[in-house]
Amino acid sequence: MERKKLIIPFLKYLFTKPSVILKSLHNSVTQQSRKDLVKNKYGFGKGLPQINLLDLIPSFNEEVENCTHLDGTSMPIDIALLKALAKKHNNCEYLEIGTWRGESIYNLSKVSKHCTSLSLSNKEMIAFGLTEKHTKVQRLFSKNLSNVTHIEHNSLTFNFSSLNKKFDLIFVDGDHTYEAVKSDTKNVFNLLKDENSIIIWHDYTRNYEQLNWPVIAGILDGSPKEAINHIYQVSNTLCAIYTKQKFNTVILDSPTFPDKAFTVSISGKKI
Ligand SMILES: C[S@@+](CC[C@H](N)C(=O)[O-])C[C@H]1O[C@@H](n2cnc3c(N)ncnc32)[C@H](O)[C@@H]1O
Repeated sequence: MERKKLIIPFLKYLFTKPSVILKSLHNSVTQQSRKDLVKNKYGFGKGLPQINLLDLIPSFNEEVENCTHLDGTSMPIDIALLKALAKKHNNCEYLEIGTWRGESIYNLSKVSKHCTSLSLSNKEMIAFGLTEKHTKVQRLFSKNLSNVTHIEHNSLTFNFSSLNKKFDLIFVDGDHTYEAVKSDTKNVFNLLKDENSIIIWHDYTRNYEQLNWPVIAGILDGSPKEAINHIYQVSNTLCAIYTKQKFNTVILDSPTFPDKAFTVSISGKKI
């Protein structure tokens, strides 16, 4: 939009609802300052190298159940990616930081031996400024699953060694601020079972092709130095991945000319 056209609404909101301007400035400054950090410290000014989803999962064909297509959840393709990665492990041990309605962990429970969820309790959610309505849907799809253990705790204060366990696949999808992603990342690197273990971070992008710089900065600052060259964006998803497997990569150049197309079958039922 032309600058002139912006000035009038800007001044209007500055005087009538300054919080709108402050919030939008805060978001822009946060994105830009974390982008500068990633560029200057790691040289990834255009984002992490991108792996082609179909190189990572050549015969990509997953069914995802219990998708609400509502706010606060992962894209079906993100959950399908997690399912396909879990299937690469015999008796997959899955850890998830951040479970709300339980859409991701429900699907992972179908392809894992055991799933562990670490997520805020209802009381902690309220203390974080969320509402009773948010707490009502907590673990809707995952609360009664026999191979899922729910730990209700803030990941920033949780003693991860108390888990006494290592994992094949870890999904980081809790608090998406820089500080929290950094802390969660530091903690989960100590929980990898072996050389084949994988970490997936959600919200690496805000939309498929819009990089989410606070999350990227948190991932990089929380990772051990030797892991940095094994962290990538996964194309066509909102996810980043840590994997020791080697892949050809490209740098995201939005808008991407599509090199693949997906078939989506969708059906709904009332619950
Ligand atoms: C984007 S939602 C996760 C959605 C989830 N993957 C699902 O399918 O249900 C983020 C969740 O992380 C939780 N969360 C936010 N901050 C957290 C923290 N510091 N520790 C643990 N959980 C946190 C929130 O309560 C929320 O339930």
